[in-house]
Amino acid sequence: MKEKLNDLRAAVRAELFSPETVRELEALRVKYLGKKGEITAILKQMGALSAEERPIIGALANAVREEIEAAIAARAAEIENANLTAQLSAEKIDVTVPGTPAAVGHRHPMSIVLDEAKDIFLSMGFAIAEGPEVELSVYDFDKLNIPVGHTVREWSDTFYITEDESVHLRCQTSPVQVRVMEGQKPPIRIISPGRVYRKDEVDATHSPMFHQIEGLVVDKGITLGDLKGTLNTLVERLYGAGTKTRFRPHHFPFTEPSCEVDVQCFVCGGEGCRVCKGEGWIELLGSGMVHPKVLAGVGIDPDVYSGFAFGIGLERMTMLRYGIDDMRLLFENDMRFLGQF
Ligand code: DAH
Repeated sequence: MKEKLNDLRAAVRAELFSPETVRELEALRVKYLGKKGEITAILKQMGALSAEERPIIGALANAVREEIEAAIAARAAEIENANLTAQLSAEKIDVTVPGTPAAVGHRHPMSIVLDEAKDIFLSMGFAIAEGPEVELSVYDFDKLNIPVGHTVREWSDTFYITEDESVHLRCQTSPVQVRVMEGQKPPIRIISPGRVYRKDEVDATHSPMFHQIEGLVVDKGITLGDLKGTLNTLVERLYGAGTKTRFRPHHFPFTEPSCEVDVQCFVCGGEGCRVCKGEGWIELLGSGMVHPKVLAGVGIDPDVYSGFAFGIGLERMTMLRYGIDDMRLLFENDMRFLGQF
């Protein structure tokens, strides 16, 4: 038995270096030290020994068992160390490899054009005014000379907030004119950009929510010539020197006379094409001389003061600036489109 134990000790020493993994090493431990292992088998036979032999063999068996346990534990530590080293070198981070650049966003094309327009107006001495999007009908309609019964006041055109029709989502930025004139004496020179709402179906040129830039100038001796000069300056600065405009007679309840202003088509240059529907011109804004009734309504004497006003569609302005022929592209958030600006 003594021999057997010494053989086992030698066998374990010889086998100890073949396991490469913790699992293989565990199999080795089971083989010798497990319940059915070889050492265990020897220990079970101890009963057959004589009383003199028993303590000697017992001590040897325990010593061999402890030695094997220690050897296996040492080898386990070795394997774990080797694993860790291998893992560390495999996961080594090369800090000199160039990183993946993070995608940096940029302004929406409408914000770019709005900022350009603001700069142009600020350079002409305009200030920027703001007004509410949920507006009193008195400001959006009555005080702009749009009496009860006018078509824009229909439920089918306007998003009413209250049953009695006194509060709604503004359908134009023009009420800001009234709010500014009520709070400020002439000379007045403001623009007011913002969202407006109409019950329109979405198509290439319509959306139930869109943006306008309102403009208002009131002072002594303001004429239609000032209106034309201001708007031509805007158009040439936005679209390039020499860009042609066309002032067309029109009707708005709050201006007299009124006109619409068209810009020469960016696609055909005035020849007539699909984008301008054969006209050669694209409508950009509505404008006119502030109606004497509107001035009188806010306590400004129309015999002393006169003014001009305009309302520009920001979507139109942006489409003209970049040659975009479908308004929906501006709202769909398709990065393939927006990434181009
Ligand atoms: N508010 C008009 C619209 O929504 C545009 C407009 C026309 C604004 C004439 C004005 C103006 O200030 O004077 O179509």
